[in-house]
Amino acid sequence: MTNWTPSSWRDKPALQLPKYPDQEALKSVEARLAKLPPLVFAGEARTLKAKLANVAHGKAFLLQGGDCAESFEEFGANKIRDTFRVLLQMAVVMTFGGGMPVVKVGRVAGQFAKPRSSDDETQGDVTLPSYRGDIINDIAFTEGARVPNPQRMLDAYHQASSTLNLLRAFARGGYADLNKVHQWNLEFVHDSPLSQRFEDMARQIGEALKFMQACGVTGETVPALRETEFYTSHEALLLPYEEAMTRTDSLTGEWYDTSGHLLWIGARTHQAENAQIEFVRGIKNPLGLKCSPAMTPDELIRLIDILNPENEAGRITLIARMGAGKVIESLTPLVQRVKAEGRHVVWSCDPMHGNVEKSSSGYKTRRFENILSEVRDFFAVHKAEGTWPGGVHFELTGDNVTECTGGSYEVKDEDLGDRYHTACDPRLNANQSLELAFLVADELKAFQS
Ligand code: PEP
Ligand code: CO
Repeated sequence: MTNWTPSSWRDKPALQLPKYPDQEALKSVEARLAKLPPLVFAGEARTLKAKLANVAHGKAFLLQGGDCAESFEEFGANKIRDTFRVLLQMAVVMTFGGGMPVVKVGRVAGQFAKPRSSDDETQGDVTLPSYRGDIINDIAFTEGARVPNPQRMLDAYHQASSTLNLLRAFARGGYADLNKVHQWNLEFVHDSPLSQRFEDMARQIGEALKFMQACGVTGETVPALRETEFYTSHEALLLPYEEAMTRTDSLTGEWYDTSGHLLWIGARTHQAENAQIEFVRGIKNPLGLKCSPAMTPDELIRLIDILNPENEAGRITLIARMGAGKVIESLTPLVQRVKAEGRHVVWSCDPMHGNVEKSSSGYKTRRFENILSEVRDFFAVHKAEGTWPGGVHFELTGDNVTECTGGSYEVKDEDLGDRYHTACDPRLNANQSLELAFLVADELKAFQS
């Protein structure tokens, strides 16, 4: 690794970073963060990389999902549980449908910083700096609230720490036990086709578990039946925070960003000569790279050269976010080039970020049918190219919000105001997420037949 240090990004041009007015306060927060315990272990990030290598080789599927932006306001045990539960339900649906392991990664315990398309926001005749996520400033539309405050990095660290603590407890402490698959469904609307479909699957799983038990395979003999592995991820955007959380692993002497297991580079900050790419090239965590329709095959290969010079499978997940109707045209050349060059990557589909629109009632929303169409075209491209459609990346929540329209419970334009809580982009609610999981499972099954 030539000329890399955790702070070498500071010599590069940087987009999307806040300008902290109080530099002394910033330095003192960075120093404090650097002394706090890591949130994840290097060994866990390595295990995730190995699991993603299986995905790259077509032997597993990736499910990544969670909030667009975690917020200080929405934080609470129920919210964490509900999001974890819907991800578990989705994973079990996909495992069952696809007949292969599903690697579960949350956009959680660190997903606080947001890139913005505009530096300012105007309401009426007032213009203020944009909200950039709770780790940077406050969403309230007042001058004071929008000033970047470094103390917020410490608040975000502590929220991430207690979120992770609860997630680890759920994953290992019995909540994820496959014998409880019925219970994960309890709070869903009953007697609906969706709930019925989940119950049918849960019953089949129950029968399989009973048979296995009779053969001596139980949660005691096979821990994977009673616990699960769950990983965290967020966008590597706010570099002062990421640098402070970066440590050398005592086992290997390599650098890991211990703020999360997987870090991704957003669609606005992937310039090869800029700060975010400089930072992530030196850490050994598995990485994600968002690919928008603006990404050219040459640019993509250049970035892969920088981020994964050894062509290690599992190191890079390419997260395509093209927008409904643009997938075939924009994704195909990227897939063809990566394949022709023999690069080992995970291809994942983010059907959220190319599909944001303003509803007639004025809310930022996404249509379920567009999300679905993008997922279908993603599978079609990989079918045509003979490559593996490795995974999906969703913005979702376990709550019953009304932020995206459509789905079989039919959230309509005029319903958006009912429970619109997101701090940033519109999320799928629990029902829409589960419905999408069944559709992905159907695609996976069809892909393999
Ligand atoms: C995001 O994932 O929340 C995001 C901002 O995505 P993108 O960088 O792809 O626009
Ligand atoms: Co988003």
